[in-house]
Amino acid sequence: MLVLGLETSCDETGVALYDSERGLLADALFSQIDLHRAYGGVVPELASRDHVKRMLPLIRQVLDEADCVATEIDAIAYTAGPGLVGALLVGASCAQALAFAWGIPALGVHHMEGHLLAPMLEENPPGFPFVALLVSGGHTQLVQVDAIGQYTLLGETLDDAAGEAFDKTAKMMGLNYPGGPEIARLAEKGVAGRYTFPRPMCDRPGLMFSFSGLKTFALNTWQQSVSAGDDSEQARCDISLAFQQAVVETLTIKCKRALKQAGMKRLVIAGGVSANKALRLSLEKMLGDLKGDVFYARPEFCTDNGAMIAFAGCQRLQAGQHESLAISVQARWPMEQLPPL
Ligand code: KG4
Ligand code: ZN
Repeated sequence: MLVLGLETSCDETGVALYDSERGLLADALFSQIDLHRAYGGVVPELASRDHVKRMLPLIRQVLDEADCVATEIDAIAYTAGPGLVGALLVGASCAQALAFAWGIPALGVHHMEGHLLAPMLEENPPGFPFVALLVSGGHTQLVQVDAIGQYTLLGETLDDAAGEAFDKTAKMMGLNYPGGPEIARLAEKGVAGRYTFPRPMCDRPGLMFSFSGLKTFALNTWQQSVSAGDDSEQARCDISLAFQQAVVETLTIKCKRALKQAGMKRLVIAGGVSANKALRLSLEKMLGDLKGDVFYARPEFCTDNGAMIAFAGCQRLQAGQHESLAISVQARWPMEQLPPL
């Protein structure tokens, strides 16, 4: 089954062609980062307008790259939520219009299920069951995954998502959007031990997270440094390292707890923050000690992309799931509401 996948939940237009037999045939992405940078974050209306502009040229591009014609496409998968409603509507309308014109089925895919399954596009895909750490700009969740569509939420953040904390901390220190890659870059030049940040909610049992205090701690640390006359690049690097270490250690502690609670040794990490090298190293070490395995996607499939939507959609479409021509998207959408395959 050849599936066209469309992703427009936030500030990236992603398009891909995935074939159930031949694998990923082509994928293309247009990132709006430069468009939103001046505002220090995503401006929803600008995001929607840009998706409108990029969508059809990107679809033509992947068809060319895969050497396919539209009549070969069997079905269309698009992100139906969670995300920015205006942005989601661009992908949904485009998908439904093409599905109607081409007389093929369409299916709305859950963005976080897309992230969750992205590591399955890699050479050594994880088998079920596993524990998943979903860490993106909008989500921080630990999920027990028994099969596609069989999700049990084990824990999540009470306030900011991990990626959001990276973005806000970066913004406070005058760094560019998105902050995650910026903090990771500066942390490489940071001096360890100059600052120590707390590991929120690790001193009590449970699998919930809270990252907003960490962001405030970073703000106070930065302001104290500036008042003491040090607003240097090195101060930014040292704070970035201390902040990143706190996030990474907190996530590692909770992943270890979740694996123990679920009685599993297989961990999947997905979402933009799973591109973070320090996080990958820390989790690899933890799983190494447990004689388990950690799985993640290549960096470009950790952040938003069309390939993950084409892949997740293909799994469900192949199982016979599709929907009517109604155009409906959801800003919020708990993953546990998804039907099993
Ligand atoms: O999955 P994603 O592309 O979009 C959402 O679904 O939210 O995740 C974007 C988030 C941003 O907060 C970004 O700062 C963060 O992922 N991110 C990173 C890294 N790359 C992206 N955070 C830490 N380290 C990175 N290398
Ligand atoms: Zn995402």
